Amino acid sequence: MFNFEYQNTTKILFGKGQIGAIGKEIAPGSKVMITYGGGSIKANGVYQQTMDALAACEVIEFGGIEPNPEYATLMKAVKLGREEKVDLLLAVGGGSVLDGTKFIAAAIPFAGEEWDIVKKGAAVERAVPLATILTLPATGSESNTFAVISRRETSEKLAFSSVHSYPKFAVLDPETTFSLPEKQVANGVVDAYMHTLEQYLTFPGKAELNDRFAEGILQTLIEVGPKTLAEPQDYDARATFVWSATLALNGLIGCGVPQDWATHMIGHELTALYGMDHARTLAVVAPHLYRVCGEGKREKLVQYAERVWGVREGTEEERAEAGIRKTEEFFESLGVPTRLSRYEGVEADTPKMVASRLKGRGFTQLGEKGAVTPEVVELVLSRSLAA
Ligand code: NZQ
Ligand code: ZN
Repeated sequence: MFNFEYQNTTKILFGKGQIGAIGKEIAPGSKVMITYGGGSIKANGVYQQTMDALAACEVIEFGGIEPNPEYATLMKAVKLGREEKVDLLLAVGGGSVLDGTKFIAAAIPFAGEEWDIVKKGAAVERAVPLATILTLPATGSESNTFAVISRRETSEKLAFSSVHSYPKFAVLDPETTFSLPEKQVANGVVDAYMHTLEQYLTFPGKAELNDRFAEGILQTLIEVGPKTLAEPQDYDARATFVWSATLALNGLIGCGVPQDWATHMIGHELTALYGMDHARTLAVVAPHLYRVCGEGKREKLVQYAERVWGVREGTEEERAEAGIRKTEEFFESLGVPTRLSRYEGVEADTPKMVASRLKGRGFTQLGEKGAVTPEVVELVLSRSLAA
């Protein structure tokens, strides 16, 4: 097991009605800026619950943060936050609103060019305190340090991370997610599943407990994913899904183990180019990447196939392939395609284009062993496009 440091400072408020509990987490009289997306929180009652819970605070609002949050929009919120001298940012929504708010929180006190936080990894030395009310289980953003920000004018989608981006608290009320369209639930299951695989399908890290954590999350998502899709109002199934998605990317299962993240890096380029939903980019990359990089991942692929999918027959190569096939079938069963060829408008030169964009950013050795070179990226996407 590798050495690691672990401290997750986000307090989780989990369960029905927990929005009502945020009052005790915020000093009365605080100036709170709530941030949200395109309006789903107004339609499902979450907005009203939030406003009621903030009765003792001075509240200002910033709505309109779009999926794959846009830099230009976020900069408007930065301006407002500076003018209003807000004490706390409260992000209410899915991963995009949460990520966007992490950027706003870091950018408000930032002295230099704000885009450098994302583009150049400029050090974030402080941030306005932020907290979250999550309405879409998927990204883990509610209790991690990551944010992914898009800039349409340059077709960029880039991540940053700072210890100052940990939300002070995260409300996870499964009932706030009942209003999600099926597609977003399926996306969420796939995203959480892929976060787990990125921290698991690498090479043996002699970290048995982490392996078991990861396998537990994967098996739970396999069980509960289809159920919560079919019965969105089944509270316990949805609660299990919400908690799985949080644990998949709150830092715990990644402690002391090698991590991959090549699928995410490639996927972000597909979103930047074509606006594809984040989870859907992962589903068209991962299976092909696991085949192309099969040798380096063989031992874990075999372990995955056996422990998660019960595959015990065949040679190691056959078992590894069976695990990948089961993954594809699972994603497809949720209505999430696993081939790039299924998306209209994806041009034939996409594999080359994505490879060269990643190369241009200096990402020439992705994956746990740096084996995912631009050539490998091109091959993976070519296979997905030809499949
Ligand atoms: O904007 P509103 O009206 O709120 O509608 C949203 C949006 O259209 C809707 N929605 C959210 N909660 C709802 C709801 N609709 C009905 N009922 C509800 N309860 O869902 C749509 C998609 O929302 P979005 O926030 O974009 O989805 P998601 O949570 O999947 O976030 C995706 C973003 O997170 C980034 C992705 O790259 C992408 O930009 N990621 C962030 C990560 C992190 N911070 O750790 C890691 C991930 O790998 C990922 O990269
Ligand atoms: Zn993801």
